[in-house]
Amino acid sequence: MHPSLFSPDILAGQQALVGGSTQGIGRAVAEVLAQMGASITLLARNEERLQQIAAELPTPTAQTHDYIVADFVDANVVATRVHDYLNSHPRGFEILINNTGGPAGGPLLAAPAEAFRAAFEQHLVCNQVLAQALVPTMQANQYGRIINIISTSVKQPLPNLGVSNTIRAAVGNWAKTLANEVASSGITVNNVLPGATVTQRHTSLIEQRAVQTGQSTESIEDNLLQLIPVHRFGQPEEIAAAVAFLASPAASYITGINVPVDGGRTGNL
Ligand SMILES: NC(=O)c1ccc[n+]([C@@H]2O[C@H](COP(=O)([O-])OP(=O)(O)OC[C@H]3O[C@@H](n4cnc5c(N)ncnc54)[C@H](OP(=O)(O)O)[C@@H]3O)[C@@H](O)[C@H]2O)c1
Repeated sequence: MHPSLFSPDILAGQQALVGGSTQGIGRAVAEVLAQMGASITLLARNEERLQQIAAELPTPTAQTHDYIVADFVDANVVATRVHDYLNSHPRGFEILINNTGGPAGGPLLAAPAEAFRAAFEQHLVCNQVLAQALVPTMQANQYGRIINIISTSVKQPLPNLGVSNTIRAAVGNWAKTLANEVASSGITVNNVLPGATVTQRHTSLIEQRAVQTGQSTESIEDNLLQLIPVHRFGQPEEIAAAVAFLASPAASYITGINVPVDGGRTGNL
């Protein structure tokens, strides 16, 4: 990470709610936003990990970090937990990072109806209740940054990710619609689309594919690397760097766009 791009005065005094932030991309986003001076509220299921990470995040502006425990399996529960938090922290948030665990892999035709309902709840409805909870304060302050971690499948469906491909398109259109609705209030809404990024999800999708096909994990990885022009997988910090820019005041005239961070893998512009 280039230190001068992410200096602590950029987000000093700001508050960020970061979903899916106990590991992987969400955790890397929480780290960089904290490094830029923001106070972070982590949001995920595992309370022990949330507590540990909140204690480990950087505090260059002597800011404090905390967390909310919620399972995105039920958007009503997420809404209740966040509204409870806002009742005791009424200043609200400048930054919302919509992120959670990805849907299970597998071919479209093999997916049960319930997998689509669950993914829609976890990805789209949870984004909606979080936006409804946080946007009123952003509107009152005439400032906000909403960044959705989706997938390059918004632009080009990926093999063996039937449910994910389907739901990501809905989230992309939700985000574009919201971007237009809130643009006049100084709120930007953008999507970051990770390519193959080394996290627990990446490893488990490769292991699952190995079981399905009988191929070794090494040969699956080799095949995936052939599709990536930079010829390596991404690191969570590389996704977080794009999020950090979009979350900063400097990105004030960028809204309603998709930013692939994928080493060039996506085959269209
Ligand atoms: N890694 C990649 O190659 C890649 C590529 C494209 C898109 N993406 C997408 O980017 C997003 C993040 O991926 P990642 O690789 O960072 O995933 P990850 O390593 O599996 O981390 C997922 C995070 O979300 C939290 N989470 C999972 N299920 C949750 C639930 N039901 N309720 C609340 N929190 C939940 C987890 O924490 P707890 O267990 O504590 O809840 C964890 O902090 C996903 O949507 C993924 O599909 C990833």
